[in-house]
Amino acid sequence: MEFIDLKTQYQRYQNELEKAALRVLRSGRYILGPEVKELEETLATFVGTKYALGVSSGTDALLLILKALGIGKGDAVITTPFTFVATAEVIRRAGAQVVFADIDPQTFLLTPSSVAKSLAQARQKGLRVKAVMPVSLFGLAAYLPELEAFCRKEGLFLIEDACQSFGAEVNGRKSGSFGKASATSFFPAKPLGAYGDAGMVFTNDPELYETIKALRIHGQTQRYLHQYQGFNARLDTLQAALLLVKFKHYPEEIELRQEVANRYRKLLAGLPVTFQHIPKNCLSVYAQFTLRVPQRDKLVAHLATHGIPTAIHYPRPLHLQPAFKELGYREGDFPEAESLAKEVISLPMHPFLTQADQEKIVSAIAAFYNEKEAV
Ligand SMILES: Cc1ncc(COP(=O)(O)O)c(C=O)c1O
Repeated sequence: MEFIDLKTQYQRYQNELEKAALRVLRSGRYILGPEVKELEETLATFVGTKYALGVSSGTDALLLILKALGIGKGDAVITTPFTFVATAEVIRRAGAQVVFADIDPQTFLLTPSSVAKSLAQARQKGLRVKAVMPVSLFGLAAYLPELEAFCRKEGLFLIEDACQSFGAEVNGRKSGSFGKASATSFFPAKPLGAYGDAGMVFTNDPELYETIKALRIHGQTQRYLHQYQGFNARLDTLQAALLLVKFKHYPEEIELRQEVANRYRKLLAGLPVTFQHIPKNCLSVYAQFTLRVPQRDKLVAHLATHGIPTAIHYPRPLHLQPAFKELGYREGDFPEAESLAKEVISLPMHPFLTQADQEKIVSAIAAFYNEKEAV
């Protein structure tokens, strides 16, 4: 059993994918070729923004947004400590200070009230907070309408880290379409994954679009005119062509992910596990199916002996990572993120997970807790 079965997915679309790849290989246009533009237009329409820019990864997408907005030395950005490291890493790479705020124990998302609290504390310390960067986690969109209103009121940029949530919705509006700009990732294991690193920026702001378009290619606005200190953060034509093929199947895959998630919910009912709460106005794309469970580490070991792969997203919140030591945070600063890190487990999740595999996973979990009860 695979945690995320990319091989089955490849076999399903193999003919179309190989045709697209061959076309690019024979075209001679390997970087920012016509498929990149086609992908940008297609995905901007899907997300509901005016602009999209294909870039080299989700990490670079986030960094380019910060750089293009002029966020750097002397500035601070508020984000969640319960995320993949890239979210906070880019804030520091831009030269700004990371300010964390705690999460909602049910949705696992950065809460507007904790953002407000962290903002007040940061301002009291004299920090110049410029932006809030919520993460749409495990496929569930962040509290985007609330945070959008909050940022507008406070004069802050809202930058959504939508690296795990391409296709997710809040009130029928897509993740990626809120705030000043958003970044998504097409890392192979993401809901819409490429066959290598790839990412995208979404925005409605024409100036920001033009700046990022230049930044991704060495700050170049005309051939060999370098307006800005830029990057090499371009998207390969090959990845764009493959993503266009996979995107055609993506709406169906989102539906299959709902079926898999609903089946898990039914099968796991009655066991001592707590699901990530998906509010009624949200559509999750289930980048992960993550639960809070008692005796997490023992359960992980038990499932491994039954050949069931699991993952822990994330075992250590970012404020307690050695790389962020200099920020001065301590254990106890973000209790919700800290207890989640001790309790979460992600189960195998992909659109092609069979009912038989899900039953096997759940009976192994049930056996673990029933044995414990019997002791
Ligand atoms: C929340 C989050 N932010 C940022 C990233 C970075 O994306 P990438 O791996 O494409 O650089 C990822 C994915 O890996 C992620 O999950």
